[in-house]
Amino acid sequence: MQTADASLRALNTLRLPSTAEWLSMPATIAEARAAITEARGRGAAITVLGGGSNVVLRPRLGGLVIVPRIRGIELRRAGEFVSVTAGAGVEWHELVRFCLGQGVGGLENLALIPGSVGAAPIQNIGAYGIELQERFESLTALSCRDGSIVEFDAQRCAFGYRDSAFKHRPNEHLIVSVTLRLPVAPDLRTRYPDISNEMNSLAVAASPTSVAEAVCRVRRRKLPDPRRIANVGSFFKNPIIDATALERLRGVIPDVPTYHDANGSKIAAARLIDAAGWKGRRMGRAGVWSRQPLVLVNLGDATAAEMLALAEAIRDDVANRFDIALELEPSIVGADA
Ligand code: EPU
Repeated sequence: MQTADASLRALNTLRLPSTAEWLSMPATIAEARAAITEARGRGAAITVLGGGSNVVLRPRLGGLVIVPRIRGIELRRAGEFVSVTAGAGVEWHELVRFCLGQGVGGLENLALIPGSVGAAPIQNIGAYGIELQERFESLTALSCRDGSIVEFDAQRCAFGYRDSAFKHRPNEHLIVSVTLRLPVAPDLRTRYPDISNEMNSLAVAASPTSVAEAVCRVRRRKLPDPRRIANVGSFFKNPIIDATALERLRGVIPDVPTYHDANGSKIAAARLIDAAGWKGRRMGRAGVWSRQPLVLVNLGDATAAEMLALAEAIRDDVANRFDIALELEPSIVGADA
């Protein structure tokens, strides 16, 4: 079923006012395919939304917006691994909790990331020293051109830092399920300083469950809960810079945190924004989160334009001060009314 002129406000975690020309929330693959076929018959554009937690929605989305609500989680033991297949409409954190409840670890560092399972591969979600790609096996999608089934292995997904093939060709495919490959023996990542400190203060033995607990505690302290304060997590990516640029930056911020990346040094954008004095500031109804300035928040009834104006002001300031170009993390979707 498709609803006309549907509000998307409750379907995006920045709570931006936005209207879809048509909206469909299919609960099965057959329903998703029917929605695609109908839109194609009308010549309408298709936009796929997940949990709405990594998008900035402009006021109007023309054509059909599809929010997959396909559910279900299946676990299969396969030697040293457990293969887990989850429907695109399952909430990511619900999947993490379900696996832990079954005694299956591997996703604990990714606990409490907002959004749906179907959206997780699009930006290759990552936190505290691990990215989805390390646990990824394959996914099943529908072609938004003709509704046919398409299988993707990791190579075809072309994962990178907050990046995948899907980011470069948006709305070409609708992901219906994702299969992960999780280790039977614990494979714990506790070296990230926030996590190791939290583990020490919890004084518990390291296990998938205790690491998940530490991750949840750190996230709850640093990041605004999107159910209470509208946000989409990090608004900027951590820039990856070459050795010359790093040396120049170290001249201005000697202790800027860096992380290893195959393409250079990844630096903490939060540190640049903090050093530029943006922490806790606001511009109209858009604000910079005081405990993690990579996160921009909607303080009331902000629009996409207001959120983007704040992001632009931060980008300009960081570029002028440090000669580093920040890139937006969320996708900007739709048009002005
Ligand atoms: N920092 C400051 N001031 C602050 C906060 C942080 O200077 O107020 C500096 C500190 O030096 C800190 C560093 O920034 O050590 C990094 O902060 P944090 O550990 O919070 O990580 P991040 O690099 O800012 C990334 C992800 C987060 C993810 C964390 C933890 C991106 C764009 N963001 O943030 O992901 O939770 O690492 O792994 O890669 C998201 O994408 O929505 C997200 C929240």
